[in-house]
Amino acid sequence: GRESKLQLVHRHIRAFSDFPKKGILFRDICPILKDPAALTAVIDLFEEHVRKNHQHVELIVGLDARGFLFGPLLAQRLDVGFVLVRKKGKLPGSTVSVAYDLEYGKAEAEIQEDAVAPGQKVLLIDDLLATGGTLYAACELMKKQQAEVLGCMVVIELKELNGIDKLKSHSVFSLVQY
Ligand code: PRP
Ligand code: ADE
Repeated sequence: GRESKLQLVHRHIRAFSDFPKKGILFRDICPILKDPAALTAVIDLFEEHVRKNHQHVELIVGLDARGFLFGPLLAQRLDVGFVLVRKKGKLPGSTVSVAYDLEYGKAEAEIQEDAVAPGQKVLLIDDLLATGGTLYAACELMKKQQAEVLGCMVVIELKELNGIDKLKSHSVFSLVQY
């Protein structure tokens, strides 16, 4: 059931102190990827959420880099496409970009201009919500492309950083909260 899947996911997340900088408690999802049952549980839980709440989704948009680990698996389950939001300078052709702040630095998010059509219904996916800077930047990119963001999905939400506040109008679904 849902509870045992959540427990399985929870058991496959580990924490490292002072990575990548002093004072940061880094939540590592690598053990999930290493365990087929845990990875299946993650995708099952996301799929269940989308089928219940966002039946009309047309595209899954994944964030560089760890959103790429879960996004395509979910998109394939839902029989919809997958689009990449990358760090600046990685995508060929015409692109649109937005700068943002991270829990431990700065970055710029970029998408191919033709990746999302105006009015398309999209769901954003990443491994983790911290300050919300990354997902906020992705939402801004979607706004520039006139896509309709149905919501955001993450494996992990770090509650104390209040990332949800930055995402205001957008719903955020998370599997595990710290
Ligand atoms: C991490 C994480 C999220 C983001 C969350 O990625 O995977 O994308 O930070 O932080 P925020 O909510 O404060 O924006 P990171 O930028 O470290 O890059 P990576 O995925 O390439 O490791
Ligand atoms: N991205 C931003 N903050 C993070 C954290 N504490 N652990 C893992 N990824 C992160």
